[in-house]
Amino acid sequence: MMKRSWVLSRPLYPTPVALITSISPEGKPNIITLAEVFMPCVRDPLTIGLAINPTRYSNSLIRATGEFVVNIPTDDMVRIVDYCGTVSGRDVDKFKMTGLTPEVAVKVKPPMIKECPVSIECRLKQVTPIGYHDFFMGEGLAVHVDETILNENKIDMNKAKPLVYNLGEYWTCGTLIGKHGFTHGKF
Ligand SMILES: Cc1cc2nc3c(=O)[nH]c(=O)nc-3n(C[C@H](O)[C@H](O)[C@H](O)COP(=O)(O)O)c2cc1C
Repeated sequence: MMKRSWVLSRPLYPTPVALITSISPEGKPNIITLAEVFMPCVRDPLTIGLAINPTRYSNSLIRATGEFVVNIPTDDMVRIVDYCGTVSGRDVDKFKMTGLTPEVAVKVKPPMIKECPVSIECRLKQVTPIGYHDFFMGEGLAVHVDETILNENKIDMNKAKPLVYNLGEYWTCGTLIGKHGFTHGKF
């Protein structure tokens, strides 16, 4: 295997895709697509990391209210995902334009997105400027999962149909090829 040294700002692939909802202090909700940098940080307490450019409207909303909701779309929502990542809530009402349904959250003010099978209500814990982005860390306060994507209390990937992102491309997920620990003591 010949490896080329490559100056690449996005060497980790693929990354999960999320629609993050926020709300203005006046109560107007917004949606931003994140996939460039969106990650689980810690499981307990559930902590989620997002890098949001300071120019994004969502950056100012999350800073102002200290709250956001992580919504995980299904692959058939790819057009909505792309749209919410190419226009600003300063100019358009993305709920209205996409037809997505806002759902009242339990612990935070930003709405959940009804069409997304998973929504995680988060409270902002920390913001750290890194390069030309701000890294937000949020603590999960409540997790909502559509029962129809569950299989024996686990998320069934064939039903959840998550999207992943690779350097400007949207991909669906592939095939189950193993389970955690399946080689234990048997290599
Ligand atoms: C697939 C995809 C992934 C994106 N990932 C990020 C990201 O991780 N961080 C970021 O600041 N912007 C990201 N963007 C760009 C924002 O979604 C975009 O600038 C959006 O229009 C900002 O909306 P707002 O101004 O309403 O907050 C991404 C866009 C797309 C389409």
